[in-house]
Amino acid sequence: MEKPNYTQDYDKLLRSLYRAVIFLSSFLVALALGVMYYGLAGASSAARPSTPVVATSQPQRPAGPVESSDERVEDGIHLATGLRAAEGFEVVRANCTGCHSGKLIAQNRATRDGWQEMIRWMQRTQGLWQLGENEAAILNYLAANYAPEEIGRRANLDVEAIEWYILEE
Ligand code: HEC
Repeated sequence: MEKPNYTQDYDKLLRSLYRAVIFLSSFLVALALGVMYYGLAGASSAARPSTPVVATSQPQRPAGPVESSDERVEDGIHLATGLRAAEGFEVVRANCTGCHSGKLIAQNRATRDGWQEMIRWMQRTQGLWQLGENEAAILNYLAANYAPEEIGRRANLDVEAIEWYILEE
C-alpha cells in the first residue's frame, strides 16, 4: 500500500486556493471599476443643468388640458376657452389652446400681420407647429375678433342677427 503524499496534496490545495483568491480579487476589481464608472457617469450627468439656457424648439410648458369643461357660450364667449364663438373658432381652439389658455389669446389685440408675427414667433421659439392651410382661417378669426382697440371696439353683438351654432361635445 502506498503512503499518501501529504505534501503533494497540500501543494495542490494551496494552488487551487491561490487561483480562487486571484479569481475573486479580479472579480472584485472589475466590480469596483464598474461602480466607479457608473458613479462618475451619474455624477456628471447630474452636474449638467437640467434646463437648457437657450430657447429650444420644444414647448416650454407641458401640453395639457388648460380648459375647463364648460362648453356653454355666453355673450358670444365660449366659456371653457374664453374665446369668441365665431367663424373659425374650432380651428383656433384645436391649434391654439394646447399650450396655453385661450384667455391669453383673448387678452391680446393685433392686426392680421401682428397676429401672423406672433404665430411666427411661437413657431420659431415655442414649438408651435406649421399651421398649413388652417393658418388663413386662424388669421381671419384673430383679425376679426381680436383687432387693435384703436380702431374702435367691436360693435355690440346683435343677438338676433348672429347665426348661433351648437358646439360639438
Ligand atoms: C406649442 C405651444 C403653443 C401653441 C400650440 C400656441 N402657443 Fe401661443 N404661446 C406659447 C408660449 C410658450 C407662449 C408664451 C407664454 C408666456 O409668455 O407665458 C405663447 C404666447 C402667446 C401669446 C401671448 C404673446 C405675448 O406677446 O404676450 C399669444 C397671443 C398666443 N400665444 C397666441 C397663440 C395662438 C393664436 C396660437 C394658435 C395659432 C397659439 N398661441 C398656439 C406656445 C404656444
